[in-house]
Amino acid sequence: QAQSNPLRQTDTPLNIAHRGASAYAPEHTAAAYRMAIEMGAPFIEPDLQMTRDGVLIALHDPTLERTTNVATLFPQRYRRVQRGAKAVRQWFAYDFSLAEIKQLDAGSWLSEAYAGERILTLDEVIALAQGKADIMPELKYPDRYLAQGLDMAQAFWHVLERHRLTRGEHGPQVVVQSFHFDTLVRLRQQFQSSLPQVFLVYGDSAAPWLSDEGLARVATIADALGPSKLLIEADPTLVSRSHQQGLAVIPYTFASPHRATDAALIREMQTALCLWQVDGLFTNNPDLFGQVGPCR
Ligand code: G3P
Ligand code: CA
Repeated sequence: QAQSNPLRQTDTPLNIAHRGASAYAPEHTAAAYRMAIEMGAPFIEPDLQMTRDGVLIALHDPTLERTTNVATLFPQRYRRVQRGAKAVRQWFAYDFSLAEIKQLDAGSWLSEAYAGERILTLDEVIALAQGKADIMPELKYPDRYLAQGLDMAQAFWHVLERHRLTRGEHGPQVVVQSFHFDTLVRLRQQFQSSLPQVFLVYGDSAAPWLSDEGLARVATIADALGPSKLLIEADPTLVSRSHQQGLAVIPYTFASPHRATDAALIREMQTALCLWQVDGLFTNNPDLFGQVGPCR
């Protein structure tokens, strides 16, 4: 079973540029993706959200205020959201058309050197990656979008069909990720997808999936488990037990400068690759992945 799994990697673990080279350039912008490709990352990772007019865009948060100047350009277009005792203002992507979202500056929040970077559509990410890298898109909150009348899985599949990427015959190879199990099921059943899939898990909500029975169920629909690295730290047998079920293991997120110096981050990646024996990892620093020495 392991041999037929395209994500099981014993010799060449996957260096996946998490939101692009997002330790150095504003996440999910062309600058971050291009930098990752220049650093030699074989995969770039676009998170996907949706606009009001149903276009898939590369954006991590469902809202725009952290990584753009939306609050300045559209000061009245927020929703008030209760966060514990506090009501906060949030600007949801699904309240804006693509034309409006294209007016936003997605670079200045990190550095004025990136002023004018734009939010990209999935189409634009595919064009940028063409001939240079493969892509690992993550379908974010498909259930929330469905509640807004927006079918993320269907929109995603239509984009792939338009680019003739559904069978891996043209353009970048596509590996699909989601925290939403039912969406991965739907891609296989409704759209007959044979693309590799990664099921993401985190925190306490991961527990039901991490028993041998849970992993066997994951293996019915995914080629890899994508756990928070904390879950492997808590139970390093997770990797071998996943491998036994035929699943690759690709943890997230290996990042500086928030939690590590470069040297500490390289050591952390070395532990993941050589001691835990994962099949790849998501990193904000795809350049440092290349500095991990060979496993002895
Ligand atoms: O997709 C893997 C990892 O990126 C999941 O966490 O929140 O960074 O999308 P997040
Ligand atoms: Ca992600």
